[in-house]
Amino acid sequence: MLIYELHMADPIDKLAAQYFQLVELPNLALPPGSVLIQPAVQAALYERMFNENVFPIPPDSYRSRVLKEILSRIEESITDPEEDEINDDLMECWSTLVSQPKPSALQQAQQLSLVKYTAPLSSGTPSPRTVTISESRGLILSGGTTGNRTWEAALHLGSFLVSEAGEALVRGKRVIELGAGTGFLSLLCARHLGVRSVVVTDREPVLIDNIRDCVRHNLQGKESIPIYPAIWDWGTPLEKSGDLAGLISEGGETGLTFDIALGADLIYDTDLVPLLVSTVRDLFENYHIKEFIIAATLRNEDTFRTFLVACETNSFTVETLPFESTPSEDQTGFFHSTSIPIRTYRITRRQ
Ligand SMILES: C[S@@+](CC[C@H](N)C(=O)[O-])C[C@H]1O[C@@H](n2cnc3c(N)ncnc32)[C@H](O)[C@@H]1O
Repeated sequence: MLIYELHMADPIDKLAAQYFQLVELPNLALPPGSVLIQPAVQAALYERMFNENVFPIPPDSYRSRVLKEILSRIEESITDPEEDEINDDLMECWSTLVSQPKPSALQQAQQLSLVKYTAPLSSGTPSPRTVTISESRGLILSGGTTGNRTWEAALHLGSFLVSEAGEALVRGKRVIELGAGTGFLSLLCARHLGVRSVVVTDREPVLIDNIRDCVRHNLQGKESIPIYPAIWDWGTPLEKSGDLAGLISEGGETGLTFDIALGADLIYDTDLVPLLVSTVRDLFENYHIKEFIIAATLRNEDTFRTFLVACETNSFTVETLPFESTPSEDQTGFFHSTSIPIRTYRITRRQ
């Protein structure tokens, strides 16, 4: 017991990080009942997860599911009703949650929530690095876009970018992200990775409005972070107007110059491949990028082969970056499933 108390913060750290990312119950690192029964553990759970002062507060339906499981584990571990107790604050929170109206499964899936992603632990970063995003975790495809939630490939690429090798690729650089969806990677770059600037793009205006709105949750007391949201439909010119007008340019035909482009989960449909590859060529030729880093979930071999063949035809060199996914159970942040392999590639132009 004493030994556990000394290390008590560890499992709660991971559980709290998963909870604010709305990780589903079967994948939560919940301590066993023998640990949850301890008053100090219950008090910490309340303060860090269920107190109304925490930010952002997860949706009630999610909080209820998690708290129900915690309470049932505690109840099962009660051996001496005189001695063993359930924390009053947790019980009060439970009473409030059960009295709330229950949204339907569809309403829950569509609900826009603030999700806080915590980066994997790494040495040299004393406090956890977090990114807060507004998204519908349950939405796969809605309003003609798949960009309403943050995908596994983005969390994988984010895990790479917070590593020493990943950060070295973007620190001090002018970055552009395409097909950014919720903007997770760009917000990570702007908030924590010391980029000179990041232009975050998607073709869906509603997603760009959402990213613009999310910036304020990621300021960490600063007045601004170097992020520039812009609508960009591949195959059309990216205009230096709106939020991009403030970017300082260093020549180039379009007036927009970048060092590196990022993309996650953009190779999911064979029909999209020619447009994506011609957009990458456009980025090299007209926007002066030197490299494109793309993370792909390898759902369909044919789609991916089509992409590799198109890269070959366009004289690109594709290297696989030596960054393997951490198995889900060992992840310490940016939690995601690894049941379908995810790879990260560096694309450059053959000289
Ligand atoms: C599967 S989502 C990935 C979103 C984000 N990168 C992630 O991994 O979480 C694909 C994104 O690409 C965007 N997209 C698809 N076709 C596009 C196009 N022709 N021009 C610009 N964006 C496009 C979609 O709107 C969507 O946000």
